[in-house]
Amino acid sequence: MRRPIIAGNWKMNNALAAARDLVRGLLEQADDISEVDKVIAPPFTALLSIKEILRGSSIKLAAQNIHYEEKGAFTGEIAPAMLEEIGCDYVIIGHSERRAYYNETNETVNKKIFSALKHGIIPIVCVGETENEWERGVTREVITNQVAGCFADLSKEEVAKMIIAYEPIWAIGTGKTATPEQAQEVHTQIRELIARGFGSEAASLVRIQYGGSVKPENTAALLSQPDIDGALVGGASLQIDSFVEIIRETARLTV
Ligand code: PGA
Repeated sequence: MRRPIIAGNWKMNNALAAARDLVRGLLEQADDISEVDKVIAPPFTALLSIKEILRGSSIKLAAQNIHYEEKGAFTGEIAPAMLEEIGCDYVIIGHSERRAYYNETNETVNKKIFSALKHGIIPIVCVGETENEWERGVTREVITNQVAGCFADLSKEEVAKMIIAYEPIWAIGTGKTATPEQAQEVHTQIRELIARGFGSEAASLVRIQYGGSVKPENTAALLSQPDIDGALVGGASLQIDSFVEIIRETARLTV
């Protein structure tokens, strides 16, 4: 069985003082939940300080974005070596908000995956269809395209250690969630695509999170699906109680 992984994407929330409080609360309540990999993705300005608080704990640190170039004239961007130096374990790449507002494409996502891996940072790669694509019934085509574009030229070993997050865009921050069966269907498709492109071992190892209005109340139903290996949590990761409860629900499924 794949080890479940719950990641909290704080997005553009929690300046330093709030970030520190939240993380201290998480440490108190969730550090010893050993059945689940736990990751938080604070904004860039809080990463260094949070890393220091997390030192020696079981909670891992993620950045919300990375640049694909090593350095240079890219005003406002953060280089992979800068994240490596802080000790980021993971980085979220290609979130739908970055695709929608900052023109990220499958090609830039692909380049960012390479740069993260080169610096020893595990990518959490987001895929997912828009509401319009969902209603038109073209989810399969969209996912096929995203998987092909984002993972082009990667080795099977690289794919095996990555995290993929399936996030139907119409479920992000809306309170609507895909049903566990609908999510499972897309997760199966993603795993089949990985098997076809990178072999059955990579497909059985790669962990696929679901994201989009995950809450304590729907965690167990979603994560008990065989191909849903965790969750990428936005809104509910901003409150200690709800994020800890999602982690606890996940841990309960492992016994
Ligand atoms: P949400 O966000 O949980 O607030 O829907 C999920 C995400 O964007 O990763």
